[in-house]
Amino acid sequence: MRAVFSSGIFQYFCPTACYCIASLIGHNALMLSVSCNVPYKYYSRDYSAASVDKFVVVGGKPLHGRVKISGAKNAALAIMPATLLASGVYHLTNTPNLRDVWTLSRLLGTMGVHAELNQNDLFLDTSNITSFEAPYEHVKKMRASFHVLGPLLGRFGQAKVSLPGGCAWGPRPVDLHLRGIEKLGANIEVEGGYVIAKSPSGGLRGARFHFDISSVGATENVLMAAVLAKGTTLLSNAAIEPEVTALARMLVSMGAKIDGIGTTTLEIEGVHELKPVNQEIIPDRIEAGTFLVAAAMTRGKVTIERANPYHLTAVIAKLEESGCSIDVNGDTITLIMEETPKATDIVTAPYPGFPTDLQAQWIAYMLTAEGTSSITDTIYTDRFKHVPELQRLGAEIEMAENTAIVKGGKKLSGATVMSTDLRASASLILAALVAEGRSDILRVYHLDRGYEAIEKRLSALGAHIRRERTDEF
Ligand code: UD1
Repeated sequence: MRAVFSSGIFQYFCPTACYCIASLIGHNALMLSVSCNVPYKYYSRDYSAASVDKFVVVGGKPLHGRVKISGAKNAALAIMPATLLASGVYHLTNTPNLRDVWTLSRLLGTMGVHAELNQNDLFLDTSNITSFEAPYEHVKKMRASFHVLGPLLGRFGQAKVSLPGGCAWGPRPVDLHLRGIEKLGANIEVEGGYVIAKSPSGGLRGARFHFDISSVGATENVLMAAVLAKGTTLLSNAAIEPEVTALARMLVSMGAKIDGIGTTTLEIEGVHELKPVNQEIIPDRIEAGTFLVAAAMTRGKVTIERANPYHLTAVIAKLEESGCSIDVNGDTITLIMEETPKATDIVTAPYPGFPTDLQAQWIAYMLTAEGTSSITDTIYTDRFKHVPELQRLGAEIEMAENTAIVKGGKKLSGATVMSTDLRASASLILAALVAEGRSDILRVYHLDRGYEAIEKRLSALGAHIRRERTDEF
């Protein structure tokens, strides 16, 4: 399976034939069509072919076995824009083969980057960048596209990037990205839904900036802008999520000077030039957490491999509190659950706290627990679109502002439910795995953004789940 993303001579190569094959034989053909060097502008049609997939799940099977964890989506989405900072060829290994990675590859392709994804090896050639613009049609699909702002400005002194807008669970501002970059001396204007940014003559200048809120994306964006700025930049209250740290480490291997990596204060001494590198993407802690929760919910025994247990300490602690037995050995984690889970409250928080990206899955888990639990999201207070869908499966959940009160122990029964966003979709699959009878989960394209071949990997663990085409959207 090889995907080539480029705005080069393949621009007009056989789109119709590939699209027809994709339409006829479904998801696998989506990958086949990608290997035909179809130009980026036709991929959206391929996605619409994939977008009518659904999952059919028959609940009741405990999960048993071993599963390898993929590279972290959010690390890849931070590291890919960083390749704009230096001209040359990069090889990113352990890259998750996901829709979000394809979307960002296509966006980079519009700028002149040649991107080639071969299974989990992503090659990016940034030698011929011709455009400094991230158009709305790409940014609206995935807000992480906004991360190209910092590196474009840092290296080329100019960028025009569409504002991402809201998302399924409410507004997600980018004010901290803009204020941080402005502090480095950039002139920023917002016009027609676009951020138009220019460096002062002589380039960006080091500065002190404090993030009012811990923000993963803003830290990454400002950090990428600062590494080529003149002088010293001090970023305080920087996010310390493993994906931020992974980005900072890659920047250092490219030649950047960054002190305080892994802490909330980053000191960056700007350098004149960076060089391309090869980089391995760290394991996806959210995917790992999702498989662990799936194992716990189904009273199974699952070993996840190629995980980073240090990135999962809050999650492991909560799983243990709920009654799971967990054994950590190097990069493998084995979870055994033989009893009814205890109701276990969580409050999401920036790393190393419990991740908001596992909040929806935890709600699904607590539906199988004895007693009432409360799940509070302090990061995205509106991120509860999965609740009404879980209620369709028979869940008893009440909302009190940004807290879900979950009454566990009630039998769930299969139903047709709708995915609304990536992690919400994961929670629906988990609930369907323990529901009685058949569930149809529509709009699984949300899931394809962040979980690589999840149905195949869950099937290999014994779940009854299959992907089907449907006319319903
Ligand atoms: C990243 C992750 C996402 C995760 C989130 C929180 C990627 C691609 N996505 O998103 O999966 O759920 O971190 O761990 O890495 N905020 C502002 N102003 C800003 C930026 C953020 O007020 O300019 C607020 C947000 O509304 C939110 C909080 O800061 O309440 C944290 O968001 P942030 O860490 O920025 O999330 P993302 O980087 O968008």
